[in-house]
Amino acid sequence: MIYADYNGSAPLLSSVREYLKKRIDSDIYANPNAIHSIGQKVFQGIEKCRDAISDIIGCYPDQLYFNSGSSEGVSHIIHSVLEYAPENKKIVITSPIEHVVILKALSFFQERRGFQIKSVAIDENGVINLSDLKRLLEESKNEIALVTLMAVNNETGVIQPYQNIASLCQQHKIEYFCDTTQLIGKGPFHFEKSGIDYAVCSGHKVGALPGSGFIMAKEPTKLKPHVYGSSQEKGVRGGTQNYIGIETLAVALSDFRDNQKSLDTLAMGRLNFEAEMKKSFPEVVIIGEKVPRLAGTSLISYPGIHGQAVQIELESHDIFVTTSAACADNQPETSAVLKSMGIADDVGRGVIRISLSYSQGPTDYQKIEKALKSAYGKLKKIKSF
Ligand SMILES: Cc1ncc(COP(=O)(O)O)c(C=O)c1O
Repeated sequence: MIYADYNGSAPLLSSVREYLKKRIDSDIYANPNAIHSIGQKVFQGIEKCRDAISDIIGCYPDQLYFNSGSSEGVSHIIHSVLEYAPENKKIVITSPIEHVVILKALSFFQERRGFQIKSVAIDENGVINLSDLKRLLEESKNEIALVTLMAVNNETGVIQPYQNIASLCQQHKIEYFCDTTQLIGKGPFHFEKSGIDYAVCSGHKVGALPGSGFIMAKEPTKLKPHVYGSSQEKGVRGGTQNYIGIETLAVALSDFRDNQKSLDTLAMGRLNFEAEMKKSFPEVVIIGEKVPRLAGTSLISYPGIHGQAVQIELESHDIFVTTSAACADNQPETSAVLKSMGIADDVGRGVIRISLSYSQGPTDYQKIEKALKSAYGKLKKIKSF
């Protein structure tokens, strides 16, 4: 079996499984906010994890707050900045390739709080257009409450120029929230060096337990409670901490730090795989081919062949991928991300996303290549549209 949907969710890392097997049989279960010694042990465990993760991610421990994952993190950050923005700052800059959680949170503030949302153009490779961003920043710099632009797109795996965006925002003294969900645990990242003001991480994307995650804030005092409760997480995020989840986050991110070198082999495997596919099927399109992408992500299309048909074929070879096309009345539709890149429908409807992790490599790609060649060979005779 080859699991190739790491951008959707990662299975538990083997180091996390090993950790949990031992952890389950320990007696250290208690409310981390209780003052008895077991509670205090749990609390100290959380703080050890905070220190370890901060060290890996490049922030100070008091800049990192645990939560349930990125949807909560995004909502928390957007709430903290926009709900408390001065009256004269009513513009937010974003892009059409952001995850739906960002777009929905911004819609709320547009409809209920009168914010104006401005979108930066995306180029044909799926990269945020920096000149357009500069234009938008110049146009209304004194009225902008927040810039929210992602680090890596979940569909294409394209790495965005987030450091350049951060310095442009700094020049204009505008806060920058970068959705780092698809970058942390998948590629090099250092919070302090990035110049970003706010970032997020989701445990299930990095091989830790689902329901765990954290946010980072350059100036933590700017974070306002979004989930109310007692004084957990310095009163910024109420609720009894998911301490087992937090422990697995520390194990998973340490695993990533120790194995980062495998990303080079993974990237090499992907390059060969894509080259071989294009050699056998010159009509194949690889989205974002010309620009830096996550080591293990390929969004590949055979124009005219329905992505879901390919997905089903691959599943019969025990290979699990996804499509990024949404379905309306059983008709595949080009995703909003691909539409913003100007991708034609025959390509957009045909995409499948193959997303692997640093624990996989060239052998997995060779198996996928064999199965995908067989799928395209079979399906091109009965093109879907
Ligand atoms: C870029 C990005 N942001 C945010 C999210 C939301 O993360 P979660 O579902 O873990 O809350 C996802 C998940 O797919 C994502 O890919």
